[in-house]
Amino acid sequence: MKNKNKAVWGTRFNKATSKIFEKFGASIDIDKRLFEEDIFGSIVHTQMLVKQKIISKKRGSKIVNGLKKIRGEIRKNRFSFDKKYEDIHLNIEKRLFSIIGEDAGYLHIARSRNDQVITDFKLWIKKSSKEVTKNLENLIKSFLQKSEKNIQTIMPGFTHLKNAQPISFAHYLLAYVEMFKRDRKRFVNNIDYINECPLGVGALAGTSYKIDRNFTSKKLGFKKPTNNSIDTVSDRDFALDFLSSASICAMHISRFAEELIIWNSDIFKLVKLDDKMLTGSSIMPQKKNPDPAELIRGRAGKNFGSLQAMLTTMKGLPLSYYKDMQEDKALVFESYDTLLESIIIANELIKSLKPNKERMFSLSNEGYTTATDFADYLVQNNNLSFREAYKISAKLVNYAEKNKKKLNQLNFNEVKKVKNNLDKKVMNVFNVRNSVNFKTSYGGTSTKNIKKMISKLKKEFK
Ligand code: ARG
Repeated sequence: MKNKNKAVWGTRFNKATSKIFEKFGASIDIDKRLFEEDIFGSIVHTQMLVKQKIISKKRGSKIVNGLKKIRGEIRKNRFSFDKKYEDIHLNIEKRLFSIIGEDAGYLHIARSRNDQVITDFKLWIKKSSKEVTKNLENLIKSFLQKSEKNIQTIMPGFTHLKNAQPISFAHYLLAYVEMFKRDRKRFVNNIDYINECPLGVGALAGTSYKIDRNFTSKKLGFKKPTNNSIDTVSDRDFALDFLSSASICAMHISRFAEELIIWNSDIFKLVKLDDKMLTGSSIMPQKKNPDPAELIRGRAGKNFGSLQAMLTTMKGLPLSYYKDMQEDKALVFESYDTLLESIIIANELIKSLKPNKERMFSLSNEGYTTATDFADYLVQNNNLSFREAYKISAKLVNYAEKNKKKLNQLNFNEVKKVKNNLDKKVMNVFNVRNSVNFKTSYGGTSTKNIKKMISKLKKEFK
């Protein structure tokens, strides 16, 4: 049988791979992004083979030097990637042969591409999760800075997009800080799951060589080697954890983006964005559009899509390795790129955001936002049940609505129409600033609470 196939695995093939499949099956355009991790993994694997006396020191050094040379070439953009060699692992191995000759053939002792690829990928996801957390920390800091300047900025809080109760704008911003903190923690926690080293499980069954998996695990920065060789090459949970955390984070950022779009509208006019974060229209000269926020909102779908795609890929796969799983890299890389950009742009948006304080304040007096405060007053001062108080307050709202007045525009005599024997101090409840400061329960919007929370958070995110 004449060997016409030049692939590393081509020995038993008497035909070259069809060009059309070669292009279809190659992942090099995508997984070349793993080159640092791939070379790092190969160097450590070689060191282990030498330490265990599986290959000679001399051969080991030759391999390591060759790998370092390749790393230099790729870093300097002097490496030519070839689809013929499928993926990053085989492109590097092929090049190693051309640099050091047949000694390159000793590198792949006691490993398979199956354990190699997840080692690379886990290392990459660890590194990238750290990059996400760093950027989330920056975002949190920007939100904290904006909060600090807006403790006294009163706005209506919404439910159902209807004015609900007065809140501090800072309290609203701190709500996002809590979401981003949890997002950050998700990426940090994922590291715990990812922290087991796959290298050395081979194709799926383990290996007969006397390898030292603890050595490679430690050198590569993992906590311990994985326990089960079959699970190891089949597992893509770690990619799903990343994709799911990215989706949740993208969803949070998208909600913020959506609020900016609404608040920046000509109807709401609650915030202004800096010109550098807006775009114009090619036909309507007056327009200034919040495109960056819209793109953040639009791109969240890509994060969700990657998660869905990965789950779907995995749900019907028997154990252990199948080529389906090669698709994992494109999904994770795309999700990472999308998320990181969204975080960075969200950071620019929050920095460039100016609240329209007068408008916020005046809107907070619209929609009878202190009606609940009035009911609470009646419970606390007139010995009523909440349901009784609720009815009386509803009557006052009806009266105000009929007479086209806001609650803070009513006088004492008008208020007394719905309830006699009231003290004059009841009038304090219709002041939105008081309303905010009444909310002293832990986690509530009172100025005192917010100040405490900001100083606590600032210590956490220095
Ligand atoms: N490029 C492949 C992937 O990402 C590497 C693993 C190849 N293993 C195999 N049995 N063909 O999944």
